[in-house]
Amino acid sequence: MSIALPEGVLAFADRGPDWAAFVDALPRLVHELLDEWKLTADGEPTHGYCALVLPVRTPGGAPAVLKVGFPDDESEHEHLALQHWHGRGAVQLLRADPHRRAMLLERLHREDLTDLWDLEACEVVAGLYAQIHVPAPPQLRPLTAYVERWSAGLAGLPRSAPVPRRLVEQALSLSRDLVADPTGTGTMIHTDLHYENVLAGDRQPWLAIDPKPVSGDPHYELAPMLWNRFDELTAQPGQSLRDGLRRRFHTLVDAAGFDEHRARAWVVVRMMHNALWSLQDEPDVPRHTSTDAYLTMCIAIAKAVQD
Ligand SMILES: Nc1ncnc2c1ncn2[C@@H]1O[C@H](COP(=O)(O)OP(=O)(O)O)[C@@H](O)[C@H]1O
Ligand SMILES: [Mg+2]
Repeated sequence: MSIALPEGVLAFADRGPDWAAFVDALPRLVHELLDEWKLTADGEPTHGYCALVLPVRTPGGAPAVLKVGFPDDESEHEHLALQHWHGRGAVQLLRADPHRRAMLLERLHREDLTDLWDLEACEVVAGLYAQIHVPAPPQLRPLTAYVERWSAGLAGLPRSAPVPRRLVEQALSLSRDLVADPTGTGTMIHTDLHYENVLAGDRQPWLAIDPKPVSGDPHYELAPMLWNRFDELTAQPGQSLRDGLRRRFHTLVDAAGFDEHRARAWVVVRMMHNALWSLQDEPDVPRHTSTDAYLTMCIAIAKAVQD
């Protein structure tokens, strides 16, 4: 039986030769995995930004999914995070072959946090932080190493760049403080926890999927809840964008019991890193909006969380 790749997965090939090679090899790889792991396909494949996800049945008949992803650095330790969580707050890992970036996962429902009221979703996600923020296994890279590299890029941004210089300087100064703080390393964090990466489950109402884990600071986790579902904040009558963002921010901080200053600092730093990548036009950054709209969003979020 051969697997027909979804259009969206075929389109991954446009991202460059590495991606094209990945897409090319995918049907055969999936076939081999189904065979070796004695799985039967059980529905239409789906995908996210970098992986194919195929509903399957295990040899015992249990519903599961086979996830096969592009071998980037970010996803290298996904299986490790899931293993360490043991299904607490996150999808259960049934089997993994890290070299082939393949995982057999407990099957969850299709429903994610997209249709929930955004503040309700923020409460759910803050509740998940408490479960998934466990001591980091030693294999994970420190967040600080990435942040140092990205902030060096930010420092090299020309003064003429279309981002307020004040915000750039502020992000650089905050990032130096955060990197210097040893308590900002040692906790396993998801780093991409947003509405679409939380699916409805049976064991727990909501479970996280798709971690890109590093050893870092839990306060780093908030920002994706602000920049995802951004457009609906600009479309709400009777509520300013700033208020909408601040409501999400404070809901997350309060429900998670976070330090407000630290959470704010990471939001500013992350939004300026995002702005930098957008200016560098990295092909790896998912883009649904033009650079201008994207930059405007980064700036609006960095400003909104400040007094
Ligand atoms: N355990 C699961 N059960 C059911 N559907 C899943 C599961 N894991 C992923 N999916 C579906 O596949 C999509 C992509 O999976 P995800 O892990 O987010 O990969 P990506 O790295 O490509 O974003 C999800 O948005 C969801 O629709
Ligand atoms: Mg995803």
